[in-house]
Amino acid sequence: MCGIVGYTGGNPASSILVSGLRRLEYRGYDSAGLATLGENGLELRKRAGRVRVLEEALEANPARGTCGISHTRWATHGPATDANAHPHLGGNARAVAVVHNGVIENYAALRSELTAQGYAFASQTDTEVIAHLIARELGEGDDLYEAVQRSLPYLEGTYGLAVVSPRCPGQVIGARFGSPLVVGLGEDEHLLASDALAIAPHTANVAYLQDGEVVRLTPGKFEIRHQEHGPITPRIDRLDWKPDAVELGGHAHYMLKEIREQPDTVMDACRGRIRRAEGTAIFGGLNMSPRQLRRVRRVVFAACGTSWHAALVGEYLIERLAHLPVEVEYASEFRYRNAPLDDRTLVFVLSQSGETADTLGALREAKRQGHPTLAIVNTVGSTIAREADGGIYLHCGPEVGVASTKAFTAQVTVMTLLALYLGRLRHLSFTDGLAVADALAEVPSALTSVLATEPAIEAAAHRIASARSALFMGRDLHFPVALEGALKLKEISYIHAEGYPTAEMKHGPIALVDSETPCIFVAPRGSLHGKTLGNVEEVKARHGMIISVGTEGDESLASLSDVFLPIPDLPEVVQPLVAVVPLQLLAYHVARIRGCDIDKPRNLAKSVTVE
Ligand code: M6R
Repeated sequence: MCGIVGYTGGNPASSILVSGLRRLEYRGYDSAGLATLGENGLELRKRAGRVRVLEEALEANPARGTCGISHTRWATHGPATDANAHPHLGGNARAVAVVHNGVIENYAALRSELTAQGYAFASQTDTEVIAHLIARELGEGDDLYEAVQRSLPYLEGTYGLAVVSPRCPGQVIGARFGSPLVVGLGEDEHLLASDALAIAPHTANVAYLQDGEVVRLTPGKFEIRHQEHGPITPRIDRLDWKPDAVELGGHAHYMLKEIREQPDTVMDACRGRIRRAEGTAIFGGLNMSPRQLRRVRRVVFAACGTSWHAALVGEYLIERLAHLPVEVEYASEFRYRNAPLDDRTLVFVLSQSGETADTLGALREAKRQGHPTLAIVNTVGSTIAREADGGIYLHCGPEVGVASTKAFTAQVTVMTLLALYLGRLRHLSFTDGLAVADALAEVPSALTSVLATEPAIEAAAHRIASARSALFMGRDLHFPVALEGALKLKEISYIHAEGYPTAEMKHGPIALVDSETPCIFVAPRGSLHGKTLGNVEEVKARHGMIISVGTEGDESLASLSDVFLPIPDLPEVVQPLVAVVPLQLLAYHVARIRGCDIDKPRNLAKSVTVE
């Protein structure tokens, strides 16, 4: 949530900061701003609206200098206005400029204290107190690094900060507590960002900051201190992204690009993890022996949003293949509940970004209770990945579209492998295990054929684009797919949509059925297919508009449907991986027809790093 970019080096800062913000804009897009240090001191430009509005302001009035900080905002305190846009200035003589991700929980008390001391506030944000605190600590001096370190103990809450001061030209100070920051190490230049995406075009060498660390960047050097432990020798990591990983590459939107990448997503998530000779899967990073895993009697998954839906598919798969009880928890609830966990409970958290505040909170709560805690994460080096005892990476590459698509597919692939592995540690036979592995091998080509049906899905989108509300239904493994379809539609097209287990419909939602309300059934052939057909009949009897995702050649479902979207015939355990794709494309095309901003839907941000 919110994006930070800082730069110090030999090149004009403004263009580097703005192009970095463009790469981070998916994290927040309510306003954008920057501060540079030029010959004339601190130059500040900030605007409500998208990064392009800031660019227009800079064209009219360039900001000079080779050192600066910038920010794209997802509003928490105060609406999206020019005044509330970051950077915020501290001291009544523009002594410092600050950009901030996170939330300062005691900002009201600090604001009163600072106001009483004569500091004037120009915004409604919590961030402005940080700027004044640092200016107060800086006083008449010129050691910004020390001033930032002295200011941090006053703050309660979370922060990723970048700070500059005209008194310390060429220096960018960063500080992290609960909100990610990464340093990029270039030649005679250094960058600071909340996400390595902004750094990738400049250097592949990065150092991730840990909570409690403060960094000083100058063009030729960077140094890190931990607030309690003193100087730190940083670990340098390398970004190993494909060069085009974050380019649109001719696709109209990132969401569409990421939907179309899914055949590769499944292959990449499976790569090196299938042992055909043993009819099982293996994972390198769980850090738990088969003996320890066999002792597990219960699995708890904690996640949010799409990751929660993927975990729900995992529940069905693990119960089916490994006969282990599974509970799927909203991370935001789990972290504050007193959920009983015994010493044979294994806790997993799932997160694409690895930075979701609620999911991180759930992980920390489980760890605090002394439970082995594993993470299924996409972003290498993210906070969740680092703090978990072990885990599984998704390997699906950066996901930029705010609506998660390929990460879901990667998560469900990993869930299938995990269920296979846990099953084979228990009673699942070699033959049944091998059948799951072989089924996964069929998925990439099945996905390719579903992607080829996009024109038919687009035509279906035209039929429902003016609906006010839609119902998504699925049974068994397809119930979570229905939930995911509903989430996709609502978050990018703003059509109200709900997902239900198909048979639940007659316990209430059927009251909503009329000819204007699309009822979208996820119903590939499987063990409960006959029952699903009965439920579709019930909707048809009430003149509902039926859109179904079914197995190609399923005439009984097709003949009941106003629109039938076929997927290839596949074993049940892998059907969710393929059945979700027509729903992603449906949501995409509905949103496009309605003229919505697909990659940056209103009120949302890619990574939710506040509670
Ligand atoms: O990065 P995470 O997987 O932890 O994110 C969880 C949710 O915030 C995320 O899935 C969100 O629901 C997406 N907008 C769904 O498309």
